[in-house]
Amino acid sequence: MTDAPAHELDKRAIVKAYGRWAPVYDLVFGAVFEHGRRAAVAAAERIGGRILEVGVGTGLSLPDYSAASRLVGIDISEPMLRKAQKRISGSDLNNVEGLAVMDAAHLSFPEASFDVVVAQYVVTAVADPEATLDEFARVLKPGGEIVLLSRVGAEAGLRRALEQWLAPAARRLGWRTEFAWARYTQWAERTQGVRLIERRAMPPLGHFWLIRFAKAEATTASGNKHHAACAER
Ligand SMILES: C[S@@+](CC[C@H](N)C(=O)[O-])C[C@H]1O[C@@H](n2cnc3c(N)ncnc32)[C@H](O)[C@@H]1O
Repeated sequence: MTDAPAHELDKRAIVKAYGRWAPVYDLVFGAVFEHGRRAAVAAAERIGGRILEVGVGTGLSLPDYSAASRLVGIDISEPMLRKAQKRISGSDLNNVEGLAVMDAAHLSFPEASFDVVVAQYVVTAVADPEATLDEFARVLKPGGEIVLLSRVGAEAGLRRALEQWLAPAARRLGWRTEFAWARYTQWAERTQGVRLIERRAMPPLGHFWLIRFAKAEATTASGNKHHAACAER
């Protein structure tokens, strides 16, 4: 049993849920979220360089990246990652540096390791969204971007009531139906050097958004700004 309140998620339940989803995930969630995934990849590739995909799952988005991007994928579910590994081998995706089982709230990468951190349909599916966003900001290079696809809950009305009613069932499936936009804005307000640069509704039904945060560029001693991906080019 879990101590988490009905609307919350705990790690054990998530691992269990995605272990069950892995065999059928692509069939159920492949096409329906394809538009969003492509939009997120396009946003990430405007920065390019070394990209971390958090909650990479079965690796559905990996073939959408250009050969020039260097990709690292992490996920808490080993069965989901096994599917991703098969996809990488089957499609010869040489731009994938590696995959690892890892908790998004405790990334084992040093700070400023990536030009972009991408998380598609993940923040509302982790046990601790704010700690996870903190980790995204930590491992991101100055001048880099966090690119999210996320469900955003309704603020009022019938849809909000429905989301709250569905919350316990959704939690068992491995995600939240309700997730207030304020959680993102409040996180950005208290996180130094991070600012919201875009939010755009995505299909299906506009319940999902593409959300981008930028991490402030570092200023060198001479006062010049230093951009993430440019640092290595
Ligand atoms: C809804 S799926 C999204 C998968 C993929 N990004 C996609 O676009 O289809 C959520 C993914 O987040 C992963 N996940 C949940 N909690 C996690 C955590 N704390 N750390 C890393 N991955 C996590 C799940 O295992 C699952 O693969």
